[in-house]
Amino acid sequence: MKAESVPVRRQVELCIGQAGLPLGALVYVRQGQREHSAFAYDAAWLAHPERFNVSADLQLVPGYQSRKAASAHDSVFYGALADTSPDAWGRRVIARDHARRRKNDPSLPALTELDYLLAVDDFSRVGALRLRDAGGHFQQTAAAGRRSTPPLIELERVFRASRAIERGHETTEDLRYLQGKGTSLGGMRPKCTILEEDGWLAIGKFPSVGDARSVTRGEVLALKLAAKAGLEAASARIVQIDEVPVAVIRRFDRHGADGRIPYQSAATLLQASRQEERSYTEIADAIRAHGHAPTQDVQQLWRRLVFNLLISNVDDHLQNLGFLHVGQGLWRLAPAFDLNPFPDKERESKTWLSEQDGPITDVRMLLARAAYFALDTEQALTVLAQVQAAVSHWRPLALDPTVGLRAQELDDFAPAFEHAQSDEAAALLRR
Ligand SMILES: Nc1ncnc2c1ncn2[C@@H]1O[C@H](COP(=O)(O)OP(=O)(O)OP(=O)(O)O)[C@@H](O)[C@H]1O
Ligand SMILES: [Mg+2]
Repeated sequence: MKAESVPVRRQVELCIGQAGLPLGALVYVRQGQREHSAFAYDAAWLAHPERFNVSADLQLVPGYQSRKAASAHDSVFYGALADTSPDAWGRRVIARDHARRRKNDPSLPALTELDYLLAVDDFSRVGALRLRDAGGHFQQTAAAGRRSTPPLIELERVFRASRAIERGHETTEDLRYLQGKGTSLGGMRPKCTILEEDGWLAIGKFPSVGDARSVTRGEVLALKLAAKAGLEAASARIVQIDEVPVAVIRRFDRHGADGRIPYQSAATLLQASRQEERSYTEIADAIRAHGHAPTQDVQQLWRRLVFNLLISNVDDHLQNLGFLHVGQGLWRLAPAFDLNPFPDKERESKTWLSEQDGPITDVRMLLARAAYFALDTEQALTVLAQVQAAVSHWRPLALDPTVGLRAQELDDFAPAFEHAQSDEAAALLRR
């Protein structure tokens, strides 16, 4: 029998928060090509005074709830758990390490989807969900005496190892070194988790070998501009290691005292398959149904749509928008993250405005839908004016040492910030 066709059934415990309160049992089953997962909440959690449903696709009821992936692009796990699992970048590092181990030990079974989920470092796993094996160990925890999250001064070592992987030149040592550090977050781009000097957890995003411009400086510019435009955005800065600009972005799913804040992506909240076209009006509906401060959040969402259009951030898929749990099953929009100016892409949002409107391509369609986001025309024009004013001053901020773009690099970015829709916004505001 080939290793892949041996049936697999494994059970782990799902826990929550710094205290690791048990939530329930997660079962993963694979038979041949078919796989599914199932989850049952513990009676103790169902009776807990602070109980809430951790993932919109689960229900807060007793008994097993079973889940299959909606398509080959979707996870076999419930949304909020899938939100913690590695994506293209992390999977690549885990798979290459495994392939190397398998060369030395051909009896090692192939990786399953559960292995990828368990490979995520427990200390840095996104949100508050945690996984514990039958032996009571949180997954994954670094061996005693080894550090899973490096301090800022190790950024260079992490970068070198990540670069080697991108080039296909990595050593076994590089791969071992990156396990946990470089694999614990979703997304496509090379990144790692890192500890800031003040002990706060952060993400380090590296330039990638294929980049045609300084993507990391572009992202820090976008996040800083966002704050000036009245968006709540993850705080970010450039840390230069030799000639390499690393974007260091503070984690918003952690706080000092008791650590971990539950998180779910917009994809999870909408229970959306990666294959589907979904829209912002549906997100506004979900905010109204599950939001802690629905009016503020739908208004904030509309502001983000204006900002995305004006900076040409067209990678607005549903994993790039998230929610943090406040209490009693109510959620707030997480600060904006993964904002990037795309000077070379068509200015068309990935997520639609509404089912009728389709993708966002211009300011007028946003204004026409503002009422759905709790803004009358006058309020919408005020938001537009604030965002437009902030974005129009992108050049001095780009040149500021905290972003560090050089004057000759501004031409690479200009089409993202200066285009027909920025002219249109300015013209509408002059009226
Ligand atoms: N500041 C933050 N605090 C907490 N979690 C974050 C933060 N920024 C990103 N994340 C989480 O890490 C994941 C990956 O980050 P990010 O989206 O920035 O990476 P990416 O590789 O650029 O993604 P993409 O594939 O969308 O280009 C996000 O989907 C989100 O779950
Ligand atoms: Mg992303």
